[in-house]
Amino acid sequence: MSRMKLMVGSCFAVVFALLAWGCAGTARNATAPVNAATGQHPAAWIQNHWAEYVKSPDQCRACHGSTADPAAAGGISKVSCFTCHTNGVNHPAGWADPAQHGKAAKLAPSTNPTAMAGFAHCAKCHGTTFSDGLAVSCKSCHTKAPHPGMPWHGTTASLTNHITTDISNAPECYKCHAGGANSTIKPVTPAPAGTAPGCTNATMCHGRDF
Ligand code: HEC
Ligand code: HEC
Ligand code: HEC
Ligand code: HEC
Ligand code: HEC
Repeated sequence: MSRMKLMVGSCFAVVFALLAWGCAGTARNATAPVNAATGQHPAAWIQNHWAEYVKSPDQCRACHGSTADPAAAGGISKVSCFTCHTNGVNHPAGWADPAQHGKAAKLAPSTNPTAMAGFAHCAKCHGTTFSDGLAVSCKSCHTKAPHPGMPWHGTTASLTNHITTDISNAPECYKCHAGGANSTIKPVTPAPAGTAPGCTNATMCHGRDF
């Protein structure tokens, strides 16, 4: 084979790979990002695979089998989602109960695939605004916010209350509460621009005075 032919051939291969990659990145129900030559996922896939899953869960089932039933999981790739997501990627029964999902949302955010914890974690599937994701909008029940309505400050132990929210959720709260937005409480002296979101540092509702 001449040098020229080889070059043309490899150029076509590159163009084809780029086209396939471009389609996988944008279209729904497209082929998942798998390198056709190596049959492997791209680098940093462990950190990013969820984003492709939420675009179109079906594209993963083609090679990985069921994402809901451990006995039917694995598929032709022989990699089951359940090897890492030991409780599955779906919610357990009774999850609509605020004592389950509400409590979990208030925990420190987690990147552990076996844990369902923290608002940032919920946002991966329920959407960055909690109403624009793969999963049902939080506002389908809560109507106004991705949490109980005002004042979300129950005065008995059995009532829901925001004060037991782990402080590391602050960047998620900041999306809607920067400078005291969507709240009746605003800081007397707002924190300087660029201050990291916190619950009592005048970036959101409460100042040092609390
Ligand atoms: C064309 C077949 C195919 C499709 C479609 C596919 N995968 Fe895979 N997947 C594989 C193969 C083969 C492996 C094992 C080799 C590897 O790690 O790249 C694998 C491995 C994985 C792993 C483990 C990686 C590791 O480092 O251990 C994850 C996570 C994963 N896939 C998630 C997904 C998700 C999520 C989707 C849908 C967006 C998906 N896959 C779609 C074939 C596929
Ligand atoms: C090799 C282990 C491994 C396998 C196999 C795996 N995952 Fe994951 N998954 C992870 C890790 C680790 C994270 C957390 C990633 C992060 O945030 O950095 C994650 C996160 C996710 C998330 C985001 C929500 C959450 O619970 O963290 C989804 C959705 C998800 N994976 C779907 C899937 C699906 C669907 C499959 C099977 C096709 C799969 N995963 C297979 C390790 C795995
Ligand atoms: C891996 C994706 C994923 C993650 C992460 C996730 N959810 Fe969901 N959620 C779903 C899907 C899909 C549904 C709809 C199907 C179902 O009920 O399982 C749902 C449904 C729900 C429902 C309605 C349940 C019902 O029975 O009506 C609530 C409440 C909920 N999620 C809260 C949360 C909270 C809070 C978090 C974070 C702690 C979270 N979810 C994280 C995917 C996810
Ligand atoms: C997607 C937007 C959004 C996010 C994210 C969000 N909130 Fe809200 N929040 C609202 C809206 C809208 C209201 C007003 C609800 C109403 O009118 O009943 C509200 C009201 C509140 C109230 C009542 C305020 C008052 O004056 O009585 C509290 C407390 C609160 N949020 C805490 C939080 C905390 C803590 C977080 C983070 C864990 C958070 N919010 C995340 C939108 C959001
Ligand atoms: C199927 C209906 C439903 C859906 C969907 C839903 N919730 Fe709830 N949630 C409730 C109910 C009911 C309560 C308790 C009502 C109250 O106190 O106002 C509650 C309470 C909560 C609480 C307060 C827990 C506490 O102890 O203070 C949080 C936080 C919360 N939900 C977060 C979320 C998030 C985040 C989502 C979306 C990922 C979501 N919810 C979706 C029904 C739902």
